[in-house]
Amino acid sequence: MKKILGIETSCDETAAAVYEEGKGIISSLISSQVDIHAHFGGVVPELASRRHLEMIYPIVEQALSGASLDLSAIEGVAVTVGPGLIGSLLVGLSVAKAVAYVERIPFLGINHLEGHILAALLDDPSLSYPFTALVVSGGHTHLFQVQEEGRYRLLGRTRDDAAGEAFDKVAKLLGLGYPGGPIIEKVAQSGNPGYVRFPRGMMGNGSFDFSFSGLKTAVHYYLEERRARGEYPLKDEQRRADIAASFQQAAIEMCAKTALRAAKATGSPRIALVGGVACNGALRALMRQLTEKEGIALHCPQPGLCTDNAAMIAFAGWRRLARGERSPFSLNAAARLPLA
Ligand code: KG4
Ligand code: ZN
Repeated sequence: MKKILGIETSCDETAAAVYEEGKGIISSLISSQVDIHAHFGGVVPELASRRHLEMIYPIVEQALSGASLDLSAIEGVAVTVGPGLIGSLLVGLSVAKAVAYVERIPFLGINHLEGHILAALLDDPSLSYPFTALVVSGGHTHLFQVQEEGRYRLLGRTRDDAAGEAFDKVAKLLGLGYPGGPIIEKVAQSGNPGYVRFPRGMMGNGSFDFSFSGLKTAVHYYLEERRARGEYPLKDEQRRADIAASFQQAAIEMCAKTALRAAKATGSPRIALVGGVACNGALRALMRQLTEKEGIALHCPQPGLCTDNAAMIAFAGWRRLARGERSPFSLNAAARLPLA
């Protein structure tokens, strides 16, 4: 099994990629829907699945032509089967099944979180097991212990909002637009991270769970107080930057310190930082600082492999298909799909 087509439509990106054994990713395309959802300040599921329907064929065709391949040259298809938006997942899954059926090739449903985690291995093949994986994205905040290939143990997860969701919601409160993560990071660069000390939702009792809703609510009440004093909406750009930086500092400390605690508790010599929020430069810098102090290796994939993409799905599929795994055509998409 040498050439695998990967398809990813779990949220608001329509993506297709081709992985070739011995060469790596030879083609990867992503069509973003940000323009559609920005107006609403978040992903609208019905609009997302409609756009996937429009984009999936052109994107698959372009991924193949980018690799100078016909569909008949593909030997396996991997597709995200969950977790994600059910209508969006079904578009990719239906296309993957159709391709597999027509071409008489195996297909495999991939857990989106496994895709994010294996992006670290795709980015750096020297990453070895065991490692602790922190998956921080718009829909997920999970900590896994990855003991060996394909074996995931859930150490902790968010009890409410995902980390990226918190960035997106706080950006909205600050009137900064969507998606919030990259904008907050940019604005925060000129802000003082110590301007407000927002609460860090850290769990006690050895728990590795996260909670971001308290932080978001704290920013909300902080801004409400300013509103009562006639200072909101914020007209002062410096204050906006200070508040963005203070929020970001609290959010990245929660992520980094919990991941480090988990790695130390499990005796993990390395941490993989993956998912859209892993693009955040301040989070990467803090993780680097904390891991260096503890002698733990840190693996952060290049930003294009952190946000949703099909390269990670094609790669995860290649590894599983090579091990002889197959999915039946009866496989259905699942909005909630545990990895561990
Ligand atoms: O992994 P991803 O593309 O999609 C999901 O699986 O959810 O992650 C998207 C999330 C969004 O919430 C976005 O705001 C966040 O990742 N994000 C960032 C940054 N870039 C993207 N958050 C913080 N800083 C960034 N630079
Ligand atoms: Zn994702």
